[in-house]
Amino acid sequence: MSEQEVLYEVVDGIATITINRPTKYNALNMAVRDALSDFFKKAEEDDSVRVVILTGAGEKAFAAGADITGFPGRDSTEIRPAAKAGQDLSVFIESMSKPVIAAVNGFALGGGCELAMACDIRYASANARFGQPEILLGIIPGYGGTVRLPRLVGLGIAKELVFTGDQIKADEALRVGLVNKVFESIEALHEGVKELAVKLVEKPGVAIKLAKQSLNNAWQQSLRDSLAFELDVFCQTFDTEDKEEGVAAFLEKRKPEFKHK
Ligand code: COA
Repeated sequence: MSEQEVLYEVVDGIATITINRPTKYNALNMAVRDALSDFFKKAEEDDSVRVVILTGAGEKAFAAGADITGFPGRDSTEIRPAAKAGQDLSVFIESMSKPVIAAVNGFALGGGCELAMACDIRYASANARFGQPEILLGIIPGYGGTVRLPRLVGLGIAKELVFTGDQIKADEALRVGLVNKVFESIEALHEGVKELAVKLVEKPGVAIKLAKQSLNNAWQQSLRDSLAFELDVFCQTFDTEDKEEGVAAFLEKRKPEFKHK
């Protein structure tokens, strides 16, 4: 069943969503994609969840892309709903009110790379490999790869990756800005991701949500519109209890206790 192919766990405000098809390199079939959607929605609706981690089971793959066994014989009309669902999932992750961290523990290819790009922050282990190999199948990325990759790494590098289908290693992904940090082992990756998640759990939730909205907005809109949006959400933070607490804590030289209100 789909729920076993994706695992969900919440500990101390951190939801971990794990794609669990290690023998198939965590390839994204329809059941996996649907379960991912359900669990991301669950994490969004659960007020006790402050941070979400997305990772893959095993030591080989984060996700090696859409499940290619579902491609033979399907035409444009038949593939459209599946691709739309993949895009919708990426948009949902990106629009969540909580930070989402991708812990990339191996191959992040095709839809796997695209899912990682929809997350807010990407950490990777040294064995991670990134790429958009769709061209090798005679197709192109369909879960946002041609849209988010150039925004993250620049148009020239995105074109090279999409046109060649080549994979890049974790250190190259770090160099081009596709990941934020690389860890020497998968264990070190999970420790590093946990450390970041714990740091983010303590941050004021409303301010995190509004900062994410403003950063996402700035990624898509003009400078002028983005500044207007930032002004609105910056002012909103002044109506929160957390702003009073954060400022008081600074002035009283103590640690703030945010209520996420
Ligand atoms: N869809 C379906 N199955 C996949 C898959 C995918 N995207 N990626 C890997 N698998 C399966 C393989 O078929 C294989 O299953 P099997 O053992 O039942 O034959 C298993 O995962 C392991 O893959 P394998 O190719 O044997 O491992 P490898 O180490 O030689 O190569 C990859 C690993 C990731 C480089 C290679 O599997 C690959 O290129 N996968 C496809 C990536 C891709 O094109 N993604 C975009 C799809 S749009």
